[in-house]
Amino acid sequence: MKAMIVVGARPNFMKAAPILKAIERHNQASPAKIETLLVHTGQHYDAQMSDAFFADLNLPKPDISLGVGSDSHAAQTAEIMKRFEPVLLKETPDVVVVAGDVNSTIACALVAAKMNYSSGQRPLIAHVEAGLRSFDRSMPEEINRILTDHLSDILLVSEESGLRNLEQEGIPRERVFFVGNTMIDSLLASQQKADESPVLRQLGLNDSGSTKPYALLTLHRPANVDRPATFREILEGLAELRQQMSVIFPAHPRTQKQIQESGLESYFAATTDADSRIRMIKPQGYLDFLCLMKNAQMVITDSGGIQEETTGLGLPCVTVRENTERPVTVEEGTNLLAGVSREGIRQAIARQRNPSKTKKPVPRYWDGKAAERIVEVLLQQVSARLAQAQPTA
Ligand code: UD1
Repeated sequence: MKAMIVVGARPNFMKAAPILKAIERHNQASPAKIETLLVHTGQHYDAQMSDAFFADLNLPKPDISLGVGSDSHAAQTAEIMKRFEPVLLKETPDVVVVAGDVNSTIACALVAAKMNYSSGQRPLIAHVEAGLRSFDRSMPEEINRILTDHLSDILLVSEESGLRNLEQEGIPRERVFFVGNTMIDSLLASQQKADESPVLRQLGLNDSGSTKPYALLTLHRPANVDRPATFREILEGLAELRQQMSVIFPAHPRTQKQIQESGLESYFAATTDADSRIRMIKPQGYLDFLCLMKNAQMVITDSGGIQEETTGLGLPCVTVRENTERPVTVEEGTNLLAGVSREGIRQAIARQRNPSKTKKPVPRYWDGKAAERIVEVLLQQVSARLAQAQPTA
C-alpha cells in the first residue's frame, strides 16, 4: 500500500506526525509494508510556523514540497490544487490522507476526488478529524470541513459529536470510523520533552525552580483580529486578568500585522511584565508552546487545537469565540466559551480562575493511540478496495 500524507499549515503537523510514526512501527512489525510519501503544500512556510514543528515533532523532511505560500483563499486553494495534481498523477498513491480544516486540506481532497489514474482508479481519500462542525459558515474552516468530509471515503472521527454530525448530513455509516484524536497522540508523546524546554527560564518566568503565575493567550482568527473594534473589545476583556498576572502572547504573523495596522500597539509590551500590558513574543515551536501551556494558570484562545490540548492537559481554557466545533472540550473537558464581548470574556476568566472541577475525565479515545487505529483502518480499507478491483477469475 502506498499512502500520501498531506500537511500544509501549522495545525496539520502534530496531527500527521503520529500517523507517520505508527506506520513506521507497523513496517517494523509486519511484512506488508506501507510506503509513505509526505507532501508539504507550503501554506505555512516560516521557520517559526513550519520548520520548528518538523524539528520538534521529529517529522521527516517532506518528500515533496509544493511551496505555495500565502495568498487570498481562492488563489491559495487554487495554487495548491494546480501544484498537487501532477504530483498525484505521477505518484498514484492508494490513499491520500488529509487532516483538519485548512485550505490545504480541501484543496488536496478535491484534486484526489476528481483524479483519474491511467488504471481508471482514483486514490481513496482519508480525512483525519472528520465530522467537526461549528455550524458557522462564516468561518473558512467550516466550509473546508464540510466539503472535505463529503469528498472523503474514509472519515476518521476524533470526538463523538463528529459521528452525529456526519449521520445528520447523510454520510454512509460504513465510511465513518471513530478513532480518536491524533493531536492528543502528539501531546502525550511529547510531554517529557516539553518539560525539558528552556522557554520558562528564557522568558524569566521561572526563578530558581519556581514558576511565576501567568496566563497564556493566542488569537489569530480573522473574525477576531481583522476588525480593530472586535480585537480591542477582546483586549479590554483581559483588563482584570492583566492586573492579576502576566499574560504571555505568542502572536501569529497575521495578528502581528493587524496590531500594527489597527494601532493597538499600546496594549502590548515586548519584554516587561512590570505593568499590565500583554507580553507579546514570537510564535513558539511545538515543545516550547506545550511547556508554556502546561505551566500556565489558564489559557485564553481562539484556536481549535488548543481547546483540545487544554482538555488533554486538564487545564482551564477560555475560548474567545461564540461557538466551537469541538463541543466535547466544553461538555467533558476544561473549556469555557466566552464569546467576544469584554464582559463575557471577563466573566469566563473569573470563572476559570476558580474552576468548579479541576481534573476531568479525558474524552473517549484521547488516549495516545488514535494513529494506530488510523493505520488499521487504512490497511483494511485499501485492501478491500484492491480486492474489489481484482478481476474475478
Ligand atoms: C491557517 C488556517 C487556520 C489555522 C491557522 C493556524 C485556513 C483557512 N486557515 O490560518 O484554520 O488555525 O492556519 O495557524 O487554512 N504567514 C506568515 N508565515 C507563514 C504563514 C503565514 O507570515 O508561514 C502570514 C501571511 O501573511 C499570511 C497570514 O499569515 O497571509 C495568514 O496565513 P494563512 O495560511 O493564509 O492563514 P492562517 O491565518 O495562518
